[in-house]
Amino acid sequence: MPDTLLSRRKSEHLQIVADQDVAYTRGTLLNNIQIPHQALPELSIDDIDMSVKFFGKSLKAPLMITSMTGGAEFAGKLNHSLAEVAQDQGIAFAVGSQRIMLRHPEVTADFTVRSKIPDGVLLGNIGAVQLQEYSSNTIAGLVDAIEADGICVHLNAAQELMQDEGHRDFKGLTEKIAQLVESLDGRVVVKETGAGLSPETLKQLKSIGVSYIDVSGAGGTSWTKVEAYRATDPSLRRLGEAFSDWGVPTAFCIIAARQILKDKAFLIGSGGILSGLDAARSIIAGADIAGFARPALLAFLQSGTDGVIALIESFTKELKTAMLLTGSGKISALKNAPRIYTGELRDWLSTYNWSGGEEIED
Ligand SMILES: Cc1cc2nc3c(=O)[nH]c(=O)nc-3n(C[C@H](O)[C@H](O)[C@H](O)COP(=O)(O)O)c2cc1C
Repeated sequence: MPDTLLSRRKSEHLQIVADQDVAYTRGTLLNNIQIPHQALPELSIDDIDMSVKFFGKSLKAPLMITSMTGGAEFAGKLNHSLAEVAQDQGIAFAVGSQRIMLRHPEVTADFTVRSKIPDGVLLGNIGAVQLQEYSSNTIAGLVDAIEADGICVHLNAAQELMQDEGHRDFKGLTEKIAQLVESLDGRVVVKETGAGLSPETLKQLKSIGVSYIDVSGAGGTSWTKVEAYRATDPSLRRLGEAFSDWGVPTAFCIIAARQILKDKAFLIGSGGILSGLDAARSIIAGADIAGFARPALLAFLQSGTDGVIALIESFTKELKTAMLLTGSGKISALKNAPRIYTGELRDWLSTYNWSGGEEIED
């Protein structure tokens, strides 16, 4: 393992995320989505079909383990294990930032997990700020190097600003993302890292034709909190603490993304998904699939590969239960299940003059 800032930072992140309270104080607002119970669902649990198509492949359940790691201690083991679980459970998987591969090709093996997920959806990862430095061709090379179906490009301005060594210049990224989308024929997922995508950002992404979006909303892992734990400079620690709850709540991001992108984008609802019921709420709000990162890491640290399998089996059982109790035999039916938006989520929606399921003009 290279002893570099990148590798050390990744190891510190894993340690802090595993050991500290890094969750947002304010939640995802998914609890503000009330779902009417259907006492006469006219369905058998065995007939419920959770399958969906993603990147032209079939997932058994609408779930994805989102980007975490590579190029740090035990990262290779984690990636290989998560890929194996994703194949076994028929869900999608994305490796963590491949930036380190560009400087230290010797860590490539941490990311080359295709043999563990031969039929499934496997995605790469890179930071949008790296697009300032590397060409679209170089980034396309990262996708090829791990035989991925596409790549996730992460936006993480809030996190970078909390890092001593982080980026401060975020200019020109929209154009760079547009170039990458073109060179990869659209096989690009634009994601946040837990601070969410606002309606304004979603409109920017729509304008450049991004067709896969992972909202990674606020309510789960707070990267400003993580960086506050990591900071040695007291002023950066203060900054991280001040912004520890910064971000757009997951439930609002998903509703906004579906309203703005309509059927032009595939949506991943993530950021604080802790159960299959959260996944169901995300799909009702407008997501095509639900994603999660930290819960998979914690399950792996506690009980290895078996722990992650048990977590995903619970998620799928809870999701199936929610489908039966909403009378939804298929994911397309779950998307149309009745819902009531309440509490703080309503405040976010009414600020944008949305009250719920109705269409809005761009
Ligand atoms: C340990 C850890 C490392 C992460 N590293 C990356 C990364 O390299 N690239 C990325 O796009 N997101 C990264 N993330 C962010 C997640 O993909 C996700 O967007 C965020 O943690 C919110 O989801 P959660 O609440 O389920 O954890 C990381 C998350 C965790 C927990």
